[in-house]
Amino acid sequence: MEIRFEKREVLKEKPTGALGFGKYETDYMFVMDYDDGKWHDARIVPYGPIEFDPASMVLHYAQETFEGMKAYKAKDGRVLLFRPEMNARRFINSNKRLSMPIIEEKDFIQAVEELVRVEKDWIPTGEGESLYIRPYMFATEKAIGVHPANSYKFIVICSPVGAYYPEGVNPVKIYVEDEYVRATVGGTGFTKCGGNYAGSLAAQVKAEELGYTQVLWLDGVHRKYVEEVGSMNVMFEVNNTIITAPTDGTVLPGVTRDSILHILRDWGYKVEEKHFAIDDLMKAGHDGSLQEAWGTGTAAVISPIGELYFKGDIVTINDFKTGELTQKIYDTLTGIQWGDLEDKYGWTYEV
Ligand code: COI
Repeated sequence: MEIRFEKREVLKEKPTGALGFGKYETDYMFVMDYDDGKWHDARIVPYGPIEFDPASMVLHYAQETFEGMKAYKAKDGRVLLFRPEMNARRFINSNKRLSMPIIEEKDFIQAVEELVRVEKDWIPTGEGESLYIRPYMFATEKAIGVHPANSYKFIVICSPVGAYYPEGVNPVKIYVEDEYVRATVGGTGFTKCGGNYAGSLAAQVKAEELGYTQVLWLDGVHRKYVEEVGSMNVMFEVNNTIITAPTDGTVLPGVTRDSILHILRDWGYKVEEKHFAIDDLMKAGHDGSLQEAWGTGTAAVISPIGELYFKGDIVTINDFKTGELTQKIYDTLTGIQWGDLEDKYGWTYEV
């Protein structure tokens, strides 16, 4: 794929101090258009507002998908991506489900890689900091009738980030949601589409009003089985076995999830990808067999769970402290991602 480059006159000031998450944008963005069945005009241009028609179909029927990945600067100066082919493949699956065009794996990776190369000075190097990369696609055809659009934009933007949650890698309090659901069988739960997140906000607002950081989602059919936590996958250590929901349609197939399960199996842990009932989880919390719990995702990496609230019942996990295993997984995974530890799995991708 040929990518045109349009230089910016004046570069922006880089932020100083705590970065937070997603507050700053870099100097450039990647843009490509889809019309008449073909992607065309791939370009890296100065970051800035884009123009599209007020009738663009994404604004009515929400054909929008996205990805989340990070670039890391290793101490020896190497710029690393982490398993970018996993994001490229998931993006294809999301786009197919939303009747949107696909981007070939090699073109997706090239777009990300070339943008990161241009923006390498924006990769922050403080503890836990990285360059968050947000590829996304949306429908631009101007039409009000409901049908798959015939024109789209694919854009990649970048943002230097620190911790996702203000808590950092410290335990959070979780509200088990028993009113709203995030996904159901046959729906879009396995995709990364904006609509999944829009639908989840009411529960998040409710949880925050009640003093919790995030919600634990139950399945949409039985309202019984544990699926995800906030916008992350979730794992529990019960009697030295790791339990997590299977990726059979309603749960996002997380890159961090897959990597952690790999590492845990490699360490000799028994891992069960199964439907785990909330009642059994709360029971394990009370009888002491629930040892640790954590959420996993690209943005926050690992977020330990310190407390669960479900219908008046409260369980505290590991005395509301970050567990030994949670910390060891965090250190190992981030050690590989930042290029500090040997990458025996071949997951890092040098830009
Ligand atoms: C993740 O990377 O864990 C997420 O899905 C969060 C993102 C939507 C900010």
